[in-house]
Amino acid sequence: MNTLRLSAQDPRTPEIAAGILRRGGLVAVPTETVYGLGADGLNPAAVKRIFLAKGRPGDNPLILHVTGVEQLPQFCHDIPQAAYRLAQAFWPGPLTMVLPANDCVPRETTGGLDTVAIRCPQTPVTREIIRLAGVPVAAPSANLSGKPSTTTAQHVLHDHDGRIDAVVDGGPCAVGVESTIVDLTEDRPRLLRPGGVGPEALLAVLGDLVIDRAVTGLLADGDVVKAPGMKYRHYAPQEPVIIVAGSREKAARYIHAHFQPGDRVLCFAEELPLYAGCAPLAYGLEADPLSLSAGLFAALRDLDDPAVRRVFARCPVGGGVAYAVQNRLNKAAGFHIVDAEAAE
Ligand code: TXA
Ligand code: MG
Repeated sequence: MNTLRLSAQDPRTPEIAAGILRRGGLVAVPTETVYGLGADGLNPAAVKRIFLAKGRPGDNPLILHVTGVEQLPQFCHDIPQAAYRLAQAFWPGPLTMVLPANDCVPRETTGGLDTVAIRCPQTPVTREIIRLAGVPVAAPSANLSGKPSTTTAQHVLHDHDGRIDAVVDGGPCAVGVESTIVDLTEDRPRLLRPGGVGPEALLAVLGDLVIDRAVTGLLADGDVVKAPGMKYRHYAPQEPVIIVAGSREKAARYIHAHFQPGDRVLCFAEELPLYAGCAPLAYGLEADPLSLSAGLFAALRDLDDPAVRRVFARCPVGGGVAYAVQNRLNKAAGFHIVDAEAAE
């Protein structure tokens, strides 16, 4: 199949993309978080094609993308007031809510669950495509399963050229890590995945928030997880990643002491001068956490190279989007973290 390249700037794009979706095809769309691999979320055959293209396990549910909060009652029931407060505060934007699913949502989309994840993306061209398609768009991140998410149309084509109907090129994604997921189906709201909306901002709206275990640590084999996607190895290049925590100076001393040929350093732009001779790659500025989230997955893709032996990574601390960057790096590293302060 020939994968159509559509520009987000071309006024014909939304109708072309919507037509492909209505006919059961696959269109990769830009969002402010990452590119999504979209299909008609109410069409089981179309949804199955997403799983096939990604090589994704069928029990890992998809997010339904909608045009706004007014669509919630079409696809969900028993919607708590908290859902409306969150939508008011963060939609359109990088927030996904898990709610009880209505029967019109196919079990292919929900991975067999009786709940559904819903989000209204910020990117205008994608909201327009959903509106014209007249159906909610099921879209996981547009990477091959197990690879870092795609934050440019080039990444999407790298993984899917010739295997999907079209990609809409909207440029690089501004947030760069996937949306925050909050489960609202239990007594207390639960953070299943950190993202562009930080935990403090959620707490300010909700007044209460449980952080799921899958966010903060390694899961053991057989652990039951709320977000099935959290149990899969994710975001990771093929070689081991080791996070080196601690002050700039102590981390640099540790890395220089352990660096061997073939290793790489993934660091903040401010730290580049400290790693001359260590093949450093900067993914953003420590002083600007959004630049780190925007650059992280492209950097992990660059490092996903058989010639790379190990990656020493520097990780931001703090809340907001830095919390999501930390989560993705922790996952890429399998929570392998060395404290350079204690190592001396
Ligand atoms: O930013 C994003 O969320 C991007 C863009 C394209 O919107 N999408 C995305 O989709 O990251 P995906 O499929 O890569 O990640 C969705 C996560 C998975 O971990 C999945 O297990 C979880 O959401 N999920 C989906 N439906 C769920 C449900 N009903 N209950 C719990 N977790 C769910
Ligand atoms: Mg994904």
